[in-house]
Amino acid sequence: MLNTNEKYVFGRDKQESKRLDAQHDLLFKVTENTLIHPKIPKDTIVSVADIATGTGLGSIWLKDTSEMLDKVDGHRCYYHGFDISAAQFPEDSETIAFSVHDITQPFPEEHWNRYDLVHVRLLVAAIEESEYRSAVCNIHQILKPGGYLQWEEIDEDTYISKDNPVFWEVRRCFDASFKAEKKCFQASAKIFEECMGAGYQEVERLTYSSDWDSKLRLETEGRFVAIFETLYASLLLRSGEVNSELAARRRTEELIKQYKSLCEVGNSPPVKLMRVIAQKQII
Ligand SMILES: C[S@@+](CC[C@H](N)C(=O)[O-])C[C@H]1O[C@@H](n2cnc3c(N)ncnc32)[C@H](O)[C@@H]1O
Repeated sequence: MLNTNEKYVFGRDKQESKRLDAQHDLLFKVTENTLIHPKIPKDTIVSVADIATGTGLGSIWLKDTSEMLDKVDGHRCYYHGFDISAAQFPEDSETIAFSVHDITQPFPEEHWNRYDLVHVRLLVAAIEESEYRSAVCNIHQILKPGGYLQWEEIDEDTYISKDNPVFWEVRRCFDASFKAEKKCFQASAKIFEECMGAGYQEVERLTYSSDWDSKLRLETEGRFVAIFETLYASLLLRSGEVNSELAARRRTEELIKQYKSLCEVGNSPPVKLMRVIAQKQII
């Protein structure tokens, strides 16, 4: 069922968990197989937090990152996943601690100055434009001096297209609905601006595109179809552009049909992942 009541647009069922896990696999490849940006030193990391972590196999980015980091020099790090809902937390995890927490609220004191790396991904459809400032400040509080924030979003940049009418329509729909819900489609630009204002140093906003590897084309097309089936359909209904779930599904099916025909003639836009990295000052 499409979710129209909650502030959070996506659902939290098994199907959504599977979608997020498949999306994670693609985004890893899009970022040239870097879970963590190369500029962030890995050998000194001993504690990692992932905020808005909740995915199917138990916090997929944090799980993959823990496996990667624990190989770096043989020692185990501390890993903590936070999410506003526990619905997608794994039933048992020996290696990762989990807490329910809203990123827009200050973290409990036990987490202050604790993390070498804080990761956040895909909150564009969840938080309001006015909440980015508190989110960025709350993360600052839990980072150790010299620790890094890495925040990643698929935002408006992905849907800017010169020649793809499906992307024009998706961009129009997302932009109008996010505005109506006081959310921010230009999420990565906003995060960059708030990090600059909050006193982080070495702030960078980077763009990764699936274009770098032609083998990612089919997987990218599949992920866009999944985004249309969830986010586009939901936003049509939430914004009142259509008045029933059936109508939202029909409009989405038409859009997907058009998207697939464009892909068949080679008009297959890349997915872009925007990554902001920022360092808490060393003092
Ligand atoms: C689109 S999912 C992304 C999950 C994961 N970060 C990934 O990249 O696969 C967004 C997640 O953010 C969580 N979320 C929404 N609003 C939040 C908030 N204010 N604070 C913390 N988590 C939030 C949702 O419960 C959901 O698990």
